[in-house]
Amino acid sequence: MSQSIARQAEELRARAVEALAAAAGPEDIEKVRVEILGRSRGRLKELMAALKALPAGERREAGQLVNALKEQLTAALEARREELAARAAVRPGADLTQPAERIAAGHIHPLTRAFETLKEVFGSLGFSCVEGPEIETEHHNFDALNIPPDHPARDSFDTFFLDSGGLLRSQTSTVQIRVMEASPPPVRVIAPGRVYRPDAVDATHHYCFHQCEGLMVDEEVAFSDLKAVLTMAMEGVFGAGTQTRFRPGFFPFTEPSAEVDVSCPFCSGRGCRICKGTGWIELLGAGMVNPAVFEAVGYDPERYTGFAFGIGVERLAMIRYGIDDIRAFSENDMRFLEQF
Ligand code: PHE
Repeated sequence: MSQSIARQAEELRARAVEALAAAAGPEDIEKVRVEILGRSRGRLKELMAALKALPAGERREAGQLVNALKEQLTAALEARREELAARAAVRPGADLTQPAERIAAGHIHPLTRAFETLKEVFGSLGFSCVEGPEIETEHHNFDALNIPPDHPARDSFDTFFLDSGGLLRSQTSTVQIRVMEASPPPVRVIAPGRVYRPDAVDATHHYCFHQCEGLMVDEEVAFSDLKAVLTMAMEGVFGAGTQTRFRPGFFPFTEPSAEVDVSCPFCSGRGCRICKGTGWIELLGAGMVNPAVFEAVGYDPERYTGFAFGIGVERLAMIRYGIDDIRAFSENDMRFLEQF
């Protein structure tokens, strides 16, 4: 390759580096640009013109060298321009040790936090997480769950029915049915999600709230498994030493059924304002899956047993974080949300 072109290219590079280092502002940078990279009389242009005089055999390699130099110098110029602009952005005399203004970061909603805790706790017990639709059929919300046609829950005062014939699910137990219809046992899932009921809104009621369903089905699943799982899970959510208490209850889709309380995490069961002096807080509905439900989804009730439970997630979050009004979850008041 032409020694002369290589030497000139090196000189040009050195000159550009020196000039850019000496540049104190955008005007200086512009001068360097015109001198080196200028379209009509730039020095790189001269070098390119000189290529033409080379013998054909040397032209290619020398051309590559000059092109590479052009790219390198263009990048160096841009870098220096940015560097000087960044420097100029600092006001003279600015106190660089002053704490920076805080960037307002978002907060994780307390319900999201509660769901994450539940997924983690039940995940560690082998439950995977599934979701189902909020617009449902009477089959999934009632019939397959052994809720008879004349049951009061099917009244329009207790369920939002849609003109299209469907309804807004009033419980996440619908997802139990969907899971069992879709796959054979064994099943071990939780199903978190939103549910709807035409309730008047007050500090503890809302027409839209959240539940977390749980379902475990296999051979030889017993009530003692339900007790073990819920006791461990509630310890996971509210801390070691949390007690659970099972009281008789009724749900058409479980038999026997239970209302499950946890020992009040505020007073450790001694009795306080939150638990109204009882030491217990009601949190879940649960029970052994009714054989009629297994029949509805095509599981053999002679072979399989299982348990199900439903947790009110607002209630759980209210207890966990000391929130006294269910409306706070959906009002989008920054003073509330910023606390999480
Ligand atoms: N679906 C019931 C409710 O909304 C809760 C529940 C779920 C009870 C599963 C038992 C088993 O109240």
